[in-house]
Amino acid sequence: MSLPLAVLVSGSGSNLQAIIDRIEAGRIDARIKVVLSDKADAHGLVRAAKHGIPTRVLPFGEYPDRAAFDAALLAAVRESGARAVILAGFMRLLGKGFIAAYRDRILNIHPALLPSFPGLRAQEQAIGYGVAVSGATVHFVDEKMDNGPIVIQAAVPALPDDDAKSLGARILALEHRIYPQAVAWLAAGRLAIDGRKTRLAPSGAPLAHMDSPCLVNPPLEEGF
Ligand code: GRF
Repeated sequence: MSLPLAVLVSGSGSNLQAIIDRIEAGRIDARIKVVLSDKADAHGLVRAAKHGIPTRVLPFGEYPDRAAFDAALLAAVRESGARAVILAGFMRLLGKGFIAAYRDRILNIHPALLPSFPGLRAQEQAIGYGVAVSGATVHFVDEKMDNGPIVIQAAVPALPDDDAKSLGARILALEHRIYPQAVAWLAAGRLAIDGRKTRLAPSGAPLAHMDSPCLVNPPLEEGF
């Protein structure tokens, strides 16, 4: 049985697209039941509609407080029948009630090598610090921001003339490979949380070819 997902977006939705594409290619045993956004103009909603995926908008400003927004979001996810939640550029913190309801079944992607540079504008933070290596992290979501157990990380070089945009583009290209891979592992039931670690059950799958200078661990499997 394929895993029913809810994907939460606030913006472009390029990670959502990467996940849709790998589902359609038969690489992820999951189906997206709903794409939810706190922003009516999120391009991710357009991407979802193009693939026949139901969408819903919950404008944050229309709720009296965070708790009411969180309850509405949780209700929408539950109504969709989703059993896991994928945050793909969703720019709001989830409340405790939401996290408790989907504990260990919420993934997020962050454009830095956590625990470095959590929070907003991670690429800019990394450039400002002068790092030589940065990357992306897929992690389980817990009550703290950008904090839960790490599923997969990809590291890329930060070049001398990089700005946040050029570094961000290099990172994003790898996000589009590691996020679908992490979702595939989740959907296949191969991830187990063990304290701060995520353990990946081996499958013997052939590994992917990597042609740019980067490090991805655990290694990507063929098709990602
Ligand atoms: C990505 O950089 C992701 O790491 C961060 O938000 C951005 C979302 O991009 N959480 P997109 O909407 O998937 O294109």
